[in-house]
Amino acid sequence: MLGAAVLGLGRIGPSHVKVVASTPGVELKAVAEMSEEKLGKLLSDFPGVAGYGDYRDVLKRDDIDVVVICLPHWLHEQAAVDAANAGKHILIEKPLADSVAECDRIIEAAERNGVALMPAHTQRYYPVVRKTREVLDSGQVGKLIMAVDMWYKPLNPEARPRWMLDRKTGGGMALMDGVHLIDRLLWIIGPDVEAVSAMVGNPVYPNIPADDTSMSFLRWRSGVVATISRIAFRTGVTKYGADFFCTNGQVRFRIPYGSVGQEGVWIGQNEKYTPVEFSRFNSLERQFQEFVAAVRDRRPPPISAEHGRRVIQVMEAMDRSSETRREVLL
Ligand SMILES: NC(=O)c1ccc[n+]([C@@H]2O[C@H](COP(=O)([O-])OP(=O)(O)OC[C@H]3O[C@@H](n4cnc5c(N)ncnc54)[C@H](O)[C@@H]3O)[C@@H](O)[C@H]2O)c1
Repeated sequence: MLGAAVLGLGRIGPSHVKVVASTPGVELKAVAEMSEEKLGKLLSDFPGVAGYGDYRDVLKRDDIDVVVICLPHWLHEQAAVDAANAGKHILIEKPLADSVAECDRIIEAAERNGVALMPAHTQRYYPVVRKTREVLDSGQVGKLIMAVDMWYKPLNPEARPRWMLDRKTGGGMALMDGVHLIDRLLWIIGPDVEAVSAMVGNPVYPNIPADDTSMSFLRWRSGVVATISRIAFRTGVTKYGADFFCTNGQVRFRIPYGSVGQEGVWIGQNEKYTPVEFSRFNSLERQFQEFVAAVRDRRPPPISAEHGRRVIQVMEAMDRSSETRREVLL
């Protein structure tokens, strides 16, 4: 039985708690959350689980093998390095960290301590993203030429934790949302992006020191190209998904956001979209089960830390391109 703990019980932490508590072969032993209110609420649903106000106290326990880090971005590096130094295997919410330099220090600590490290890029476990890759890989719509990936949604700054509204604390929509779009394209198309050209800025909320908008053009070594466009608007219409254009048709997936939008995958041929059947499953559950299986079998985790680093490298190239108004080669 592996002992596990979830660190951070904000917006996403409680969902990981449910997953950890229901995973066979794993025992949820502890949680950490600095807000007494959030901690108390969760512990009332999980009697027998120990609660701590600071994640560092959980790391002192020698009956914890695995930690799931759901802390604010600015704490990712410190918490992951602390967890690695305490000998814990780490599943860390995306992004791995806020910069390539921070990713490198986390990866070094994990390697030095011989612990598994996996960034939770959960979107590859979304049923529709998985099915889209399956259709593309099957060759039934031919060879991939280009992709258009997008996420348009309200920012709702008043509903967000303060750290998300300042780039200095890991805020901004590049680190919140942009990394999801980069991750899923790298997973579907491949890691070998060759060049990036981008605009990144905060035209919607100029008084908030964090990006709300970006449009990028990415070129892969294979010749495939893609755009990533995202805007966290004041008011607008939500749209979330991607379209893939191939030599013999199109594939598109859509993901609902909040109460808006429809979940699905469609093949587009002969001027009409035909829905593709897909099976539904809990993506956080699938992700955690695969991580735990890798830890138990001493195999590399299914999402490598190098992938998490690559995502941040592409994000940094977007920032650099935006600042210099030039294409950036990777
Ligand atoms: N995969 C997804 O769909 C998804 C969705 C939301 C968030 N996330 C990711 O999850 C992570 C957390 O995001 P969130 O939205 O839940 O943030 P959040 O601010 O709501 O939650 C973080 C929690 O950590 C707590 N905390 C801070 N310092 C602490 C400490 N020293 N010890 C214990 N607790 C401490 C805070 O009180 C807060 O409740 C981020 O990496 C974010 O990108 C992923």
